[in-house]
Amino acid sequence: MNRKVYGKLIFELSREGRRGYAVPRSGLTADDVENKPTLPEGMRRSAPLNLPEVDEPTAVRHYNNMSTNNFGVDTGFYPLGSCTMKYNPKINEEMAAHSCFAGLHPSTPAFAAQGALELYWTLQKSLCEIGGMEEFTLNPFAGAQGELTGLMVIRAYHASRGEGEKRRKVIVPDSAHGTNPASAAVCGLEVVEVKSREDGTVDVADLEPLLDDSVAAIMLTNPNTLGIFEKDIPRIASLVHQAGALMYYDGANLNPLLGVARPGDMGFDVMHVNLHKTFSTPHGGGGPGSGPVGVRKGLEKFLPNPRVVRRTETPEGFPVKDTDRYAIEYSPISLGSVSATLGNFAVQARALAYILTLGSDGLMDAGKLATLNATYIKESLKDCYLLPIEGLSKHEFVFDGLRDKSTGVTTLNIAKRLLDHGYHAPTIYFPLLFHESLMIEPTETESRETLDEFIAAMRDIAREAAEDPETVKTAPHLTPVTRPDDTTAALNPILTFDNL
Ligand SMILES: Cc1ncc(COP(=O)(O)O)c(C=O)c1O
Repeated sequence: MNRKVYGKLIFELSREGRRGYAVPRSGLTADDVENKPTLPEGMRRSAPLNLPEVDEPTAVRHYNNMSTNNFGVDTGFYPLGSCTMKYNPKINEEMAAHSCFAGLHPSTPAFAAQGALELYWTLQKSLCEIGGMEEFTLNPFAGAQGELTGLMVIRAYHASRGEGEKRRKVIVPDSAHGTNPASAAVCGLEVVEVKSREDGTVDVADLEPLLDDSVAAIMLTNPNTLGIFEKDIPRIASLVHQAGALMYYDGANLNPLLGVARPGDMGFDVMHVNLHKTFSTPHGGGGPGSGPVGVRKGLEKFLPNPRVVRRTETPEGFPVKDTDRYAIEYSPISLGSVSATLGNFAVQARALAYILTLGSDGLMDAGKLATLNATYIKESLKDCYLLPIEGLSKHEFVFDGLRDKSTGVTTLNIAKRLLDHGYHAPTIYFPLLFHESLMIEPTETESRETLDEFIAAMRDIAREAAEDPETVKTAPHLTPVTRPDDTTAALNPILTFDNL
């Protein structure tokens, strides 16, 4: 780590007695405090608190300098495959931060939160239209939680037909995102892998013998994690349905399909979407997220509670009052609750702002441009980077490292060297189908100039790998933190200043 550029820790800047501000005295005497212990003895700390003591300018400068050492979509191009790091328009932030939304308590009664409930309901309906589904819940807090919720819907469906105990298997392709088998396992189901063909799509011949009455569902991503559209999807859907199982669509990366194709029309029964990818919420580092789940007609009764419904008239047939139009309901047949609230409201607000500002034509452009941008980069670089699967791909694609393997320069080295050129690294070593996977997803929000500059940087690195491989192998050289020892950091993390 380059400590000179990176700066010191706030603890190293600490000087005893320094204060940023003075809190007004409370008026309580020491005796008052002494006589009012609120915590039981065993829970009170006796050792002094080791907090940094700094003046206000030192604290402000320290954290501002730290923030400029970070990388985000607002500072540069971020082609992190499978993560859809698109630029997030600031208007979405303004909408989500509006005091009428941001100040709302989760337990506000429905009559006083009609605007927020209308937002939830409108987003539900928009996602139904985009995904070709009958109903959506916005309650899950992440893509993975959406997967689990969707699989719980599938279990509830089979149980309702008396097949809950029999149908315990979930088929997952070998190219699947790791959360798919993990969610199936958390849901108490058994994971069965189906192989990919040479062209990266699901091998239907391998799938057919796996399908029997022990299968609950197949989970597919389409375009798959290689960015390739599963052209056999109608055949797969028909085989799966004939076996009595359901089709689950992992729509974490719905971007290329926007306005172009709908999972519901492809034969999928249950799907989730990552609002924090396709529908523009700044994400990374674990949050914030939202993984709405959509279902085809007939499955909506199993969706989790609570639900938001829109009423046009009272049970007696009178028009409803404005304060009663949107209501929160709990269905007795539901699989239960997957969240204490109606999900991550600020992410939902951003998503609806994004959908409404783009409109249906704009959304359609987003999907097509995401594919065009990825294809432009792929075609411009495939003479120096190894493209393991030729042919059409969509919003992302995977190189298997450099074409010239003789230099010993790995995908990790290329990713690190890109940081010196001012780009966030692409996703590396995923999917697991190739040894040197380098997965690039530019998204639709980048200009032709940005794409050309990135292509030039990638070509520079390929040339450098041939002429001066050591420089690439020891990169990055220009970042505040150079090359930490990833393995030691993972195996022996030192997380506190005291242990440094
Ligand atoms: C294809 C796919 N499925 C599922 C997920 C899981 O989403 P989340 O990280 O919100 O849990 C991701 C996230 O990267 C993904 O790319």
